[in-house]
Amino acid sequence: MIVTIDGVAASGKSSVSSGVARALGIPYVSSGLLYRAATLLGLEAGVDLHDAQALLALLDTHAPRLEPLAEGNRVWAGERELTDALHSSRVDAGVSVVAVLPELRAWVDAQLRTLPEPFVAEGRDMGTNVFPQAGAKFYLTASPRIRAERRARERPEDIPAIEAALIRRDAKDKVQSAPAPDATVIDTGPLTLEGVIGVILEGLGK
Ligand code: C5P
Repeated sequence: MIVTIDGVAASGKSSVSSGVARALGIPYVSSGLLYRAATLLGLEAGVDLHDAQALLALLDTHAPRLEPLAEGNRVWAGERELTDALHSSRVDAGVSVVAVLPELRAWVDAQLRTLPEPFVAEGRDMGTNVFPQAGAKFYLTASPRIRAERRARERPEDIPAIEAALIRRDAKDKVQSAPAPDATVIDTGPLTLEGVIGVILEGLGK
C-alpha cells in the first residue's frame, strides 16, 4: 500500500507524513530530500544549478540515497550523512531551480520507484506523477503567512522574509505541485499537527 501526501512548501508535509507513518507502523519517504541532496552537491561543487548534465555527473559520483524511516528520513552519500545540511536557506533557494529540470525529476522518480512498499510518500507530485496508483492521496495547503509563522520556529529568519521566500518558491514549484484529481485537499491552517494527522487517519479508516 502507498499513501501520498503532497502539498505546498512548509505545509507541514514531513511532520504529518511522519505522524501518519508512525501510526500505521510503516516508513515515510521524503522525496524533497533527494532534490535537496542534488542541490547541495551542486552548490558544494560550484556547478551551475541549471546544468542538468553536470548535476547528473555529480549524482553518479556521489550516489546519494534516501533512508526512509518513520521517525525521519536520512540521506547518505557513501559514508557521509547529508541530512543536516539539506535544510539551509542556500539549499531552499536553489532547490526549485534543480527541481524543474526533467533529467533531475527522472533521477528522483527512479530512486523512489525502487523503494519497497508499504510507505507514505511525501512531496509535490507523489499522487500525480510518481505513484498515480496509490491507494490514498492527500494534498496539504495553508496560507503563506501561517506557513511562514510555522517555519520561523525552525529558522533564524523573520516571518516576512520567510513568507516572501515561500511565495517565490510556490510560484516556481507550481508546475509540479498540484493536487491529484482523486486527492483529498486539507487546509491545515486552522488545524494542529495532531489534527491533520487525525483527519488523514480517519480518511484511511484508521
Ligand atoms: O518538500 P521540500 O520542501 O523538502 O522540497 C524541496 C523542494 O523540492 C521543493 O521546493 C520543490 O522544488 C522540490 N520538490 C519537487 N517535487 C517533489 C518534492 C520536492 O519538485 N516531489
